[in-house]
Amino acid sequence: MTQLKNDTFLRALLKQPVDYTPIWMMRQAGRYLPEYRATRAKAGSFMGLCTSPDYATEVTLQPLERFPLDAAILFSDILTVPDAMGLGLYFAEGEGPKFERTLRDEAAIQALEVAPLEKLQYVFDAVSSIRRALDGRVPLIGFSGSPFTLACYMIEGGGSADFRHVKAMLYARPELLHRILQITAQSVTAYLNAQIAAGAQAVQIFDTWGGALSHAAYREFSLAYMQQIIAGLTREVDGRRVPVIVFTKGGGQWLEAIAGIGADCVGLDWTTDIGLARVRVGEQVALQGNFDPNALFGSPASIEAEAARILAAYGHGSGHVFNLGHGISQFADPAHAGALVDAVHRLSRQYHL
Ligand code: CP3
Repeated sequence: MTQLKNDTFLRALLKQPVDYTPIWMMRQAGRYLPEYRATRAKAGSFMGLCTSPDYATEVTLQPLERFPLDAAILFSDILTVPDAMGLGLYFAEGEGPKFERTLRDEAAIQALEVAPLEKLQYVFDAVSSIRRALDGRVPLIGFSGSPFTLACYMIEGGGSADFRHVKAMLYARPELLHRILQITAQSVTAYLNAQIAAGAQAVQIFDTWGGALSHAAYREFSLAYMQQIIAGLTREVDGRRVPVIVFTKGGGQWLEAIAGIGADCVGLDWTTDIGLARVRVGEQVALQGNFDPNALFGSPASIEAEAARILAAYGHGSGHVFNLGHGISQFADPAHAGALVDAVHRLSRQYHL
C-alpha cells in the first residue's frame, strides 16, 4: 500500500503531535457542490451514485479537489445496511429516505436477520476504488450508523419528528427493540470490518438520533450497542491503528460515558464548549467538531472568528480534529467552506508549536 502523504488526521485522532489542526466536514461531498449535482444527474439518482464504485469515487474526491481537506469520507449512506437487511430503501424526491417495509410488528422483527455482506459488496468496492484514486493523499474514513439511529429509520419507515413508533416500542415492548438493535449491531460490526479490510483507515459511527433518548434510555438503547460494535472491530492493519470515532448528536451531557466505550475520538455537535469537553474526557479520547454548520451562512470574517474561538477553546496540543457539529447544509456557499478550511489551517499552527 502507498505511504500516506498527509497523516495529520490519523495522528490527531491518536493525540500524537501535529503541525496544525486537521479538518474535514461531515457531508463534505454533497449538494452544496455544483459538481456533485452534475454527477448525480449523470448517475440518475443518489443510490445510483452509491452503487457505482466509479461515481462514488468521483464524488468522494470532489471536495478534495476544491479544498485542502485532511481526510476523505466514503461516499455512501448509513441506510445501506437496513436496505441489505431487506427493508427496501428508496429516496422519494424532496422527501428524504424511506423504507418499503417497516419493523413494527412482532412477526417482522422475529424474521429479521443479520445483513448479508454480499449485498453490500458495492460499498467495499467503492472503498477499494477510492483508496486507489487517493493514492495516499489523505486517509479514507469508512462509516456506519449506530444501531439506535438505524432502528429509528427501520421502525418509523423514514425520518421522523417525534419517533412515535420507536418510543412506543422502547417503553411498551423493550425486548423487541433490543432484538432489532442486537441484529443491527452484529450487522454493523461485520460491515465496518469489511470496510476496514477493503481499505478504510478510520471509521466513524453516526448516532444522529441518540440525543433524542432519555438519560437512562441512551445508555441502554444506544451507547451499549456502540460499545459492543467497537469491541468487535479490527483496530490495527499493517501495524497502523485504525481509529474509531463515535458521534452522538445531542450527546454533550453524556461525554464521560461516551468517552468510556473504547473509541479513540468522540464527536461533538456545536452545543458543547470544547474546552470544558476536553477537561471532562481527559486523556481518554480525542475530540472532533464543533463548528455550528449554520455558521457557514455568516461572512468569511465571521467564519474565521468562529474557527478562532473554537481553536482557542480547545487550546494547545494535539487531539482535536476540526469538523462541523453536523452535516454541511445544501445551501452553504462552497467559498465559505473554503474560508473555514483555510482559517483552521492558518490559525491552528500557533497551538502546535
Ligand atoms: O459525509 C459524507 O460526505 C459522506 C456521505 C454521507 C451521506 N450520508 C451522503 C448523503 C454520510 C456520512 C451520510 C450519513 C447519514 N445518512 C446520516 C448520519 C449523519 C447525519 O447527517 O445525521 C443520516 C441520518 C443519513 C440518512 C439520510 N441520507 C438522510 C436523512 C438523507 C436525506 C437528507 C438530506 O440531507 O438530503 C440522506 C440522503 C443523503 N445522504 C444525501 C447525501 C449527499 C443527499 C442525497 C441527494 O443527493 O439528494
